Amino acid sequence: MTSGEAPVPPTGGDTADRAGPPFDTSVAHQARMYDYMLGGKDNYAADRAATEAAFKVWPDMAAAARANRAFLGRVVRYLAGEAGIRQFLDIGTGIPTAGNTHQVAQEIAPESRVVYVDYDPIVLAHARALLTSSEAGVTEYIEADLRATGTILTQAAQVLDFTKPVAVTLIFILHAIPDADDPQAIVARLLDAVPPGSYLAISHAGSDLLDRKTLQGIQDAWRGKMQQQITWRNREQVARFFAGTDLVAPGLVRVEEWRPDPAGSAPTAAWCAVGRKP
Ligand SMILES: C[S@@+](CC[C@H](N)C(=O)[O-])C[C@H]1O[C@@H](n2cnc3c(N)ncnc32)[C@H](O)[C@@H]1O
Repeated sequence: MTSGEAPVPPTGGDTADRAGPPFDTSVAHQARMYDYMLGGKDNYAADRAATEAAFKVWPDMAAAARANRAFLGRVVRYLAGEAGIRQFLDIGTGIPTAGNTHQVAQEIAPESRVVYVDYDPIVLAHARALLTSSEAGVTEYIEADLRATGTILTQAAQVLDFTKPVAVTLIFILHAIPDADDPQAIVARLLDAVPPGSYLAISHAGSDLLDRKTLQGIQDAWRGKMQQQITWRNREQVARFFAGTDLVAPGLVRVEEWRPDPAGSAPTAAWCAVGRKP
Protein backbone atom coordinates (compact mmCIF):
# COMPACT_ATOMS: atom_id res chain seq x y z
CA MET A 1 0.00 0.00 0.00
CA THR A 2 1.21 3.48 -0.76
CA SER A 3 -0.14 5.02 2.45
CA GLY A 4 0.53 2.23 4.90
CA GLU A 5 -3.20 2.22 5.70
CA ALA A 6 -5.31 -0.89 5.52
CA PRO A 7 -7.22 -1.12 2.24
CA VAL A 8 -10.92 -0.41 2.32
CA PRO A 9 -12.71 -3.72 1.82
CA PRO A 10 -14.58 -3.61 -1.47
CA THR A 11 -18.31 -3.27 -1.13
CA GLY A 12 -20.65 -5.97 -2.38
CA GLY A 13 -20.20 -7.42 -5.78
CA ASP A 14 -19.92 -10.72 -7.43
CA THR A 15 -17.18 -12.73 -5.78
CA ALA A 16 -17.92 -15.87 -7.73
CA ASP A 17 -14.99 -17.24 -9.66
CA ARG A 18 -15.75 -17.14 -13.35
CA ALA A 19 -13.68 -19.11 -15.72
CA GLY A 20 -12.34 -17.06 -18.60
CA PRO A 21 -12.76 -18.27 -22.15
CA PRO A 22 -10.92 -21.53 -22.80
CA PHE A 23 -7.71 -21.34 -24.79
CA ASP A 24 -9.33 -22.44 -28.03
CA THR A 25 -7.56 -21.32 -31.17
CA SER A 26 -10.35 -22.61 -33.43
CA VAL A 27 -12.74 -19.85 -32.32
CA ALA A 28 -11.97 -16.13 -32.65
CA HIS A 29 -11.23 -14.22 -29.45
CA GLN A 30 -11.69 -10.51 -28.95
CA ALA A 31 -8.18 -10.01 -27.54
CA ARG A 32 -6.51 -11.81 -30.47
CA MET A 33 -8.70 -10.11 -33.11
CA TYR A 34 -7.79 -6.73 -31.65
CA ASP A 35 -4.14 -7.79 -31.68
CA TYR A 36 -4.48 -8.63 -35.38
CA MET A 37 -6.12 -5.27 -36.08
CA LEU A 38 -3.22 -3.53 -34.33
CA GLY A 39 -0.67 -5.45 -36.42
CA GLY A 40 0.38 -7.87 -33.64
CA LYS A 41 1.46 -11.49 -34.01
CA ASP A 42 -0.47 -13.11 -31.14
CA ASN A 43 -3.41 -14.32 -33.20
CA TYR A 44 -4.55 -17.44 -35.01
CA ALA A 45 -6.28 -18.31 -38.27
CA ALA A 46 -9.78 -18.12 -36.74
CA ASP A 47 -9.03 -14.64 -35.33
CA ARG A 48 -7.72 -13.43 -38.66
CA ALA A 49 -10.61 -14.94 -40.63
CA ALA A 50 -13.26 -13.30 -38.43
CA THR A 51 -11.43 -9.98 -38.55
CA GLU A 52 -10.91 -10.10 -42.32
CA ALA A 53 -14.60 -10.90 -42.81
CA ALA A 54 -15.44 -7.70 -40.94
CA PHE A 55 -12.83 -5.72 -42.92
CA LYS A 56 -14.75 -6.64 -46.08
CA VAL A 57 -17.80 -4.88 -44.68
CA TRP A 58 -15.97 -2.04 -42.93
CA PRO A 59 -12.48 -1.53 -44.41
CA ASP A 60 -11.63 1.18 -41.85
CA MET A 61 -11.96 -1.13 -38.86
CA ALA A 62 -8.20 -1.60 -38.31
CA ALA A 63 -7.62 2.15 -38.40
CA ALA A 64 -10.47 2.54 -35.91
CA ALA A 65 -8.83 -0.02 -33.59
CA ARG A 66 -5.56 1.90 -33.75
CA ALA A 67 -7.47 5.10 -33.01
CA ASN A 68 -8.97 3.45 -29.93
CA ARG A 69 -5.50 2.43 -28.76
CA ALA A 70 -4.32 6.02 -29.24
CA PHE A 71 -7.30 7.16 -27.14
CA LEU A 72 -6.12 4.88 -24.32
CA GLY A 73 -2.80 6.72 -24.41
CA ARG A 74 -4.44 10.15 -24.37
CA VAL A 75 -6.71 9.20 -21.49
CA VAL A 76 -3.92 7.79 -19.33
CA ARG A 77 -1.75 10.84 -20.09
CA TYR A 78 -4.63 13.08 -19.03
CA LEU A 79 -5.30 11.06 -15.85
CA ALA A 80 -1.65 10.85 -14.75
CA GLY A 81 -0.94 14.43 -15.83
CA GLU A 82 -3.74 16.95 -15.50
CA ALA A 83 -5.88 14.87 -13.14
CA GLY A 84 -2.96 13.82 -10.92
CA ILE A 85 -4.06 10.19 -10.64
CA ARG A 86 -1.49 7.72 -9.34
CA GLN A 87 -3.54 4.52 -9.19
CA PHE A 88 -5.05 2.70 -12.16
CA LEU A 89 -7.35 -0.30 -12.38
CA ASP A 90 -7.17 -1.25 -16.06
CA ILE A 91 -9.79 -3.92 -16.80
CA GLY A 92 -9.72 -5.48 -20.27
CA THR A 93 -6.00 -4.96 -20.67
CA GLY A 94 -5.56 -6.78 -23.95
CA ILE A 95 -2.42 -8.40 -25.29
CA PRO A 96 0.47 -6.10 -24.42
CA THR A 97 1.51 -3.77 -27.22
CA ALA A 98 3.10 -0.36 -27.45
CA GLY A 99 1.92 2.19 -24.90
CA ASN A 100 0.52 -0.03 -22.17
CA THR A 101 -1.17 1.84 -19.33
CA HIS A 102 1.72 1.57 -16.86
CA GLN A 103 4.23 2.78 -19.43
CA VAL A 104 2.19 5.86 -20.27
CA ALA A 105 1.36 6.62 -16.62
CA GLN A 106 4.85 5.97 -15.25
CA GLU A 107 6.44 8.12 -17.92
CA ILE A 108 4.57 11.01 -16.32
CA ALA A 109 4.54 9.78 -12.71
CA PRO A 110 6.97 6.90 -12.05
CA GLU A 111 5.27 6.16 -8.71
CA SER A 112 2.02 5.16 -10.48
CA ARG A 113 0.50 1.87 -9.35
CA VAL A 114 -1.29 -0.09 -12.04
CA VAL A 115 -3.41 -3.22 -11.68
CA TYR A 116 -4.26 -4.97 -14.92
CA VAL A 117 -7.23 -7.32 -15.24
CA ASP A 118 -8.13 -9.60 -18.14
CA TYR A 119 -9.73 -13.03 -18.41
CA ASP A 120 -8.09 -14.25 -21.57
CA PRO A 121 -5.38 -16.88 -21.06
CA ILE A 122 -3.31 -15.43 -23.88
CA VAL A 123 -3.13 -12.09 -22.09
CA LEU A 124 -2.01 -13.91 -18.95
CA ALA A 125 0.68 -15.65 -21.00
CA HIS A 126 2.05 -12.23 -21.95
CA ALA A 127 1.59 -10.67 -18.52
CA ARG A 128 5.36 -10.50 -17.99
CA ALA A 129 5.44 -7.61 -20.43
CA LEU A 130 2.97 -5.80 -18.18
CA LEU A 131 4.95 -6.37 -15.03
CA THR A 132 7.85 -4.13 -15.96
CA SER A 133 7.11 -1.40 -13.49
CA SER A 134 9.35 1.54 -12.76
CA GLU A 135 11.12 1.07 -9.43
CA ALA A 136 9.05 3.76 -7.79
CA GLY A 137 5.74 2.28 -8.90
CA VAL A 138 4.02 -1.10 -9.01
CA THR A 139 2.28 -3.17 -11.65
CA GLU A 140 0.19 -6.24 -10.95
CA TYR A 141 -1.86 -8.58 -13.12
CA ILE A 142 -5.10 -10.24 -12.04
CA GLU A 143 -6.66 -12.96 -14.15
CA ALA A 144 -10.37 -12.40 -13.67
CA ASP A 145 -13.63 -11.81 -15.44
CA LEU A 146 -14.94 -8.24 -15.31
CA ARG A 147 -18.23 -9.66 -14.02
CA ALA A 148 -16.47 -10.96 -10.88
CA THR A 149 -16.09 -7.45 -9.42
CA GLY A 150 -15.75 -8.70 -5.84
CA THR A 151 -12.77 -10.85 -6.80
CA ILE A 152 -11.18 -8.01 -8.76
CA LEU A 153 -11.62 -5.45 -5.99
CA THR A 154 -10.36 -7.76 -3.25
CA GLN A 155 -7.22 -8.64 -5.19
CA ALA A 156 -6.64 -5.09 -6.43
CA ALA A 157 -6.79 -3.83 -2.83
CA GLN A 158 -3.50 -5.61 -2.20
CA VAL A 159 -1.83 -3.09 -4.50
CA LEU A 160 -4.16 -0.09 -4.70
CA ASP A 161 -5.16 2.06 -1.75
CA PHE A 162 -8.92 2.41 -2.07
CA THR A 163 -8.93 5.39 0.32
CA LYS A 164 -7.19 7.37 -2.43
CA PRO A 165 -8.42 8.17 -5.95
CA VAL A 166 -8.26 5.39 -8.50
CA ALA A 167 -8.84 5.58 -12.25
CA VAL A 168 -10.95 2.67 -13.44
CA THR A 169 -10.33 2.22 -17.16
CA LEU A 170 -12.70 0.06 -19.21
CA ILE A 171 -11.35 0.66 -22.69
CA PHE A 172 -13.10 -1.38 -25.38
CA ILE A 173 -14.35 -4.09 -23.02
CA LEU A 174 -17.93 -3.30 -22.00
CA HIS A 175 -19.34 -4.23 -25.42
CA ALA A 176 -18.18 -7.78 -24.59
CA ILE A 177 -20.66 -7.82 -21.68
CA PRO A 178 -24.21 -8.60 -22.82
CA ASP A 179 -27.17 -6.78 -21.28
CA ALA A 180 -28.15 -10.03 -19.54
CA ASP A 181 -25.04 -9.64 -17.37
CA ASP A 182 -26.05 -6.09 -16.40
CA PRO A 183 -22.91 -4.13 -17.34
CA GLN A 184 -24.46 -1.04 -15.74
CA ALA A 185 -24.47 -2.73 -12.32
CA ILE A 186 -20.89 -3.93 -12.85
CA VAL A 187 -19.69 -0.38 -13.51
CA ALA A 188 -21.72 0.91 -10.54
CA ARG A 189 -20.06 -1.65 -8.22
CA LEU A 190 -16.62 -0.54 -9.37
CA LEU A 191 -17.49 3.13 -8.88
CA ASP A 192 -18.90 2.41 -5.42
CA ALA A 193 -15.56 0.94 -4.37
CA VAL A 194 -13.49 4.02 -5.23
CA PRO A 195 -13.46 7.30 -3.30
CA PRO A 196 -14.48 10.77 -4.50
CA GLY A 197 -11.90 12.20 -6.88
CA SER A 198 -11.65 8.87 -8.70
CA TYR A 199 -12.19 8.58 -12.45
CA LEU A 200 -13.99 6.26 -14.83
CA ALA A 201 -12.82 6.03 -18.46
CA ILE A 202 -14.74 4.06 -21.06
CA SER A 203 -14.64 3.54 -24.81
CA HIS A 204 -17.39 1.43 -26.35
CA ALA A 205 -18.53 0.33 -29.82
CA GLY A 206 -21.35 2.65 -30.90
CA SER A 207 -24.38 1.14 -32.59
CA ASP A 208 -25.44 4.60 -33.83
CA LEU A 209 -22.07 5.43 -35.38
CA LEU A 210 -22.26 3.10 -38.37
CA ASP A 211 -24.96 2.84 -40.98
CA ARG A 212 -27.36 -0.06 -40.47
CA LYS A 213 -26.05 -2.10 -43.36
CA THR A 214 -22.43 -1.94 -42.20
CA LEU A 215 -23.33 -2.76 -38.61
CA GLN A 216 -25.48 -5.68 -39.71
CA GLY A 217 -22.67 -6.89 -41.97
CA ILE A 218 -20.15 -6.92 -39.10
CA GLN A 219 -22.59 -8.70 -36.81
CA ASP A 220 -23.27 -11.30 -39.53
CA ALA A 221 -19.53 -11.75 -40.12
CA TRP A 222 -18.92 -12.51 -36.44
CA ARG A 223 -22.04 -14.48 -35.56
CA GLY A 224 -21.07 -17.90 -34.22
CA LYS A 225 -17.39 -17.25 -34.90
CA MET A 226 -16.39 -15.43 -31.72
CA GLN A 227 -16.10 -16.44 -28.08
CA GLN A 228 -17.56 -13.09 -27.05
CA GLN A 229 -20.92 -11.77 -28.06
CA ILE A 230 -20.39 -8.13 -28.98
CA THR A 231 -23.19 -5.76 -27.95
CA TRP A 232 -23.00 -2.45 -29.77
CA ARG A 233 -24.65 0.33 -27.73
CA ASN A 234 -25.85 3.80 -28.65
CA ARG A 235 -24.78 7.11 -27.17
CA GLU A 236 -27.54 7.19 -24.58
CA GLN A 237 -26.76 3.65 -23.40
CA VAL A 238 -23.06 4.46 -23.06
CA ALA A 239 -23.90 7.69 -21.21
CA ARG A 240 -25.73 5.67 -18.55
CA PHE A 241 -22.46 4.04 -17.45
CA PHE A 242 -21.35 7.47 -16.22
CA ALA A 243 -24.26 7.98 -13.83
CA GLY A 244 -22.98 9.62 -10.65
CA THR A 245 -19.89 11.14 -12.28
CA ASP A 246 -19.12 14.56 -13.72
CA LEU A 247 -17.91 14.27 -17.28
CA VAL A 248 -14.57 15.82 -18.06
CA ALA A 249 -14.57 18.10 -21.16
CA PRO A 250 -15.33 17.46 -23.98
CA GLY A 251 -17.89 15.05 -22.50
CA LEU A 252 -19.21 11.96 -24.25
CA VAL A 253 -17.91 12.08 -27.80
CA ARG A 254 -16.55 9.88 -30.54
CA VAL A 255 -13.18 8.45 -29.56
CA GLU A 256 -11.36 10.51 -32.18
CA GLU A 257 -12.89 13.70 -30.79
CA TRP A 258 -11.71 13.25 -27.21
CA ARG A 259 -8.83 15.70 -26.69
CA PRO A 260 -7.36 14.77 -30.07
CA ASP A 261 -3.65 14.91 -30.79
CA PRO A 262 -2.71 17.67 -33.22
CA ALA A 263 -1.97 14.96 -35.79
CA GLY A 264 -5.63 13.94 -35.64
CA SER A 265 -7.13 10.47 -35.62
CA ALA A 266 -8.83 8.05 -37.96
CA PRO A 267 -12.60 7.90 -37.56
CA THR A 268 -13.89 5.23 -35.17
CA ALA A 269 -17.35 3.91 -34.50
CA ALA A 270 -16.95 4.19 -30.76
CA TRP A 271 -18.17 6.46 -27.99
CA CYS A 272 -15.98 7.46 -25.09
CA ALA A 273 -15.90 9.66 -22.03
CA VAL A 274 -14.06 10.22 -18.80
CA GLY A 275 -16.10 10.86 -15.65
CA ARG A 276 -14.95 12.10 -12.24
CA LYS A 277 -16.65 10.84 -9.09
CA PRO A 278 -17.54 13.99 -7.13
C1 LIG B 1 -10.34 -5.04 -27.47
S1 LIG B 1 -9.32 -5.51 -26.15
C2 LIG B 1 -8.93 -3.90 -25.48
C3 LIG B 1 -7.53 -3.78 -24.95
C4 LIG B 1 -7.19 -2.40 -24.38
N1 LIG B 1 -8.08 -2.04 -23.31
C5 LIG B 1 -7.25 -1.36 -25.45
O1 LIG B 1 -8.28 -0.68 -25.56
O2 LIG B 1 -6.27 -1.20 -26.19
C6 LIG B 1 -10.52 -6.09 -24.96
C7 LIG B 1 -9.93 -6.95 -23.86
O3 LIG B 1 -10.97 -7.19 -22.92
C8 LIG B 1 -10.87 -8.52 -22.47
N2 LIG B 1 -12.18 -8.96 -21.98
C9 LIG B 1 -13.34 -9.10 -22.69
N3 LIG B 1 -14.32 -9.52 -21.88
C10 LIG B 1 -13.79 -9.63 -20.64
C11 LIG B 1 -14.32 -10.00 -19.39
N4 LIG B 1 -15.59 -10.34 -19.25
N5 LIG B 1 -13.50 -9.99 -18.32
C12 LIG B 1 -12.18 -9.65 -18.45
N6 LIG B 1 -11.61 -9.29 -19.62
C13 LIG B 1 -12.42 -9.27 -20.70
C14 LIG B 1 -10.43 -9.30 -23.70
O4 LIG B 1 -9.81 -10.52 -23.33
C15 LIG B 1 -9.46 -8.32 -24.35
O5 LIG B 1 -8.15 -8.55 -23.90
